Amino acid sequence: MTSIRSLAGACAVALASMCAFAAPGQAQTYPTRSITMIVPFAAGGPTDVISRIVTGHMAQTLGQSIIIENVVGAGGTTATTRAARAANDGYTLITGHMGTHAASVPLYPKLAYHPEKDFEPIALLAGTPILILARKDFPPKDLKEFIAYVKANAEKVNAAHAGIGSVSHVSCELLHSIIDVKPISVPFNGTGPAMNALVGGQVDYMCDQIVNAVPQINAGTIKAYAIATAERNPSLPNVPTTTEAGLPAYQAQAWNAIFAPKGTSPAILATLNAAAGKALDDENVRKRLLDLGSVIPAPADRTQAALGTLVKNEIAKWTPVLKPAS
Ligand code: MLT
Repeated sequence: MTSIRSLAGACAVALASMCAFAAPGQAQTYPTRSITMIVPFAAGGPTDVISRIVTGHMAQTLGQSIIIENVVGAGGTTATTRAARAANDGYTLITGHMGTHAASVPLYPKLAYHPEKDFEPIALLAGTPILILARKDFPPKDLKEFIAYVKANAEKVNAAHAGIGSVSHVSCELLHSIIDVKPISVPFNGTGPAMNALVGGQVDYMCDQIVNAVPQINAGTIKAYAIATAERNPSLPNVPTTTEAGLPAYQAQAWNAIFAPKGTSPAILATLNAAAGKALDDENVRKRLLDLGSVIPAPADRTQAALGTLVKNEIAKWTPVLKPAS
């Protein structure tokens, strides 16, 4: 006759094996519903555009839609705080960048999240070289003239950006520290609207990610003085590098990447990382990103560990640069 004790033991074994099965089983079936991807800036800007290109393909791989939610404010830190506090079930993610997940640390002493402690890195999506851009009728003709003009008119020229700690803010802070000027700064909720203001001639200049700039430069609605990378970009062959234009000290490239709230299961993170990698290998996705001047990460740079290391290094890099200015 089966004793109560042996029955209980058998049940415990059965339960344990069910539990052991349930954890990987849950991850294998993920996702069972749509995923929200928070974008911490306005629609139409570089983070939004990169997110839409890559998540469009990821959604096909995952068999569920990925809904972009633009949450603006405080240089992207409002959205990033929300993402840090979201359930860590794989259904709320964020596309962060060099600003939200590195530069914000020294610039916001009361930042409500820490990029390393509150997030799981998923995948790097794109590198985005920085350009010095101006409204098309801004008087300086080239970078040397731009520097002289901004220095001579610092009290009246203005630089648009996407809020304290955004890429556009930090990139121009770096430029301003190199050329030693403090112009007026004009914040927007993203460089999508900031670019509209530049095209409309309401602001003078901006340091922006290439993805936002290529269509406007090619349409002749703004001017580009230089790209802050070692080489020219194939999408903008006529735009000189900062070295060619006489300011080699100014080198700047941002990046955009996907993160999940801390504690998201490793299986879900692996599923998302694989879907992002598949998107970055897709011919159409690659063409769209490359046409906008993005730098597509090589496979070795797409791992979760590589993104974790990038975030750590970027915080270490930007903290001494930005701390005195904060
Ligand atoms: C955006 O998408 O608007 C930008 O990434 C903002 C920025 O950081 O400059």
